[in-house]
Amino acid sequence: MRKPIMAGNWKMNKTRDEALEFVYQVQDALPSKEKVETIICAPSIILRDLVKRQGDNLRIGAQNMHEKDSGAYTGEISALMLKSTEVEYVIIGHSERRQYFNETDESVNAKVKKALEVGLKPIVCCGELLEQRENGTTHEVLDTQISKAFADVCEDSLSNVIIAYEPVWAIGTGKVASPEMADEACGYIRSLVEKLYSKKAANEIRILYGGSVSTKSVNELMAQPNIDGGLVGGASLKADSFIELCNACVK
Ligand code: 13P
Repeated sequence: MRKPIMAGNWKMNKTRDEALEFVYQVQDALPSKEKVETIICAPSIILRDLVKRQGDNLRIGAQNMHEKDSGAYTGEISALMLKSTEVEYVIIGHSERRQYFNETDESVNAKVKKALEVGLKPIVCCGELLEQRENGTTHEVLDTQISKAFADVCEDSLSNVIIAYEPVWAIGTGKVASPEMADEACGYIRSLVEKLYSKKAANEIRILYGGSVSTKSVNELMAQPNIDGGLVGGASLKADSFIELCNACVK
C-alpha cells in the first residue's frame, strides 16, 4: 500500500516569524509519520530554520533548485546547498516556474537527475493548460512531460520520486478538477510509468493531485484509487486548514 502524502507548497509566502509560528501551531496536531508523509515546501531563505524545528511528522522541502553544481548563476541555489540545509524534498518543474521562469522539460529532467544524485527527493510536477484540456490533448501533454522528465532516470531511483499532477487551470483559481477527472489523469500518469519502467514501479510510485485543493474537496479526492495525496498551495498557508488536510489523508 502506498503511504499518503500531504505536501504544502507555500510559494512566495510567509516571513521567517510567520513560518515558525505555523510550525508551532501544527506540530502536535498532525498525523504520525506512519500514517501520512507530511511536507512543507518553503521559501529557501527559511529552510534551515524550519528543518531545525521539524519533527518526524513534519518534513521540509524546497520549491526549486538549479541543475548545475556551482558557478556564475546569480541568485540561484544548487542541489548540494539544499542538501546542506538537510531538507529532504524539492519541487521540480512547477507550472509557475515553467510559465514565469522559462523552465522546460529538458531543465526539469536535468534537475530531477541532479536532485536524485545528491539524495534529495524530487516532487516532479506535470499538468496541462486549459486550452490543452479543451482541445483534448491532455494525454499527449502528460506523455511528453513525463517521458522527458524521467529520461535517463533509472528504476531504482523511483522510490525516491513523487509525481504531482497539477492541471494549470486549477491552480489558484478555485476551480478544482472533479475527483473523477483528477483520478483519470493520475491513472494515466501511472500507466506511463508502467510503460517507461514496470508494473511494480507504477504500483509503488506516489502521485499527488494539486490545484485548488481545499478542506471541502480533499476527502473526495483522497478517496480516488490513483490519488495518493495532495500538493496544496493556498489551503496550506493556514495552520487549521493544513491540519485538516493532513488528517483527511489518513486511510
Ligand atoms: P493552489 O492549491 O493554491 O491552487 O496551488 C496549487 C499548487 O500550485 C501547488 O503546487
